[in-house]
Amino acid sequence: MISEKLQEAFNEQINKELYSEYLYLAMKVYFQEQNLQGFVNWFDVQVQEEHAHAMGMFDYLNERGGKIDLRAIEKPVVEGNTPLEIFEHVLRHEEYVTSRINHLMDVAEEVRDRAAMHLLDWYLKEQVEEESNVGGVLATLRLIGEDKHALLMLDRELAARTFVAPVIG
Ligand code: FEO
Repeated sequence: MISEKLQEAFNEQINKELYSEYLYLAMKVYFQEQNLQGFVNWFDVQVQEEHAHAMGMFDYLNERGGKIDLRAIEKPVVEGNTPLEIFEHVLRHEEYVTSRINHLMDVAEEVRDRAAMHLLDWYLKEQVEEESNVGGVLATLRLIGEDKHALLMLDRELAARTFVAPVIG
């Protein structure tokens, strides 16, 4: 059985992962409007990853006999009007998610739930990867500046990203 405090923290994080899915879906709309199909694909993969993150916690809570409490998902607000500004927002958002997973880990430590800590280790590693991946695109966008040709080359590169269902835990 999982402690009530940890159960609450997991329910809160399931909501945040679903919000992330929703936020990236909203960002996908921006790139669809710009007709940058490689970026659209990148966000498509991101949306699927966030869904998998949410479901990983959903399934885990269920497996541990916890009570799942689904909450309202906020309307997503995309900050920025250029690919560079939007990726700056993605990085800020991922850094925020990392801080929330760290909080979850703090709660798991507090209630001495080693099984949950093991699961959260996976999420922390995933966050390192996410931040690095986003940081890479962001660095390229900074180099590109106003160069439309270079932006189209990056778009082509992002079209190659594929979703691989993660094995969580
Ligand atoms: Fe689920 Fe991008 O963190």
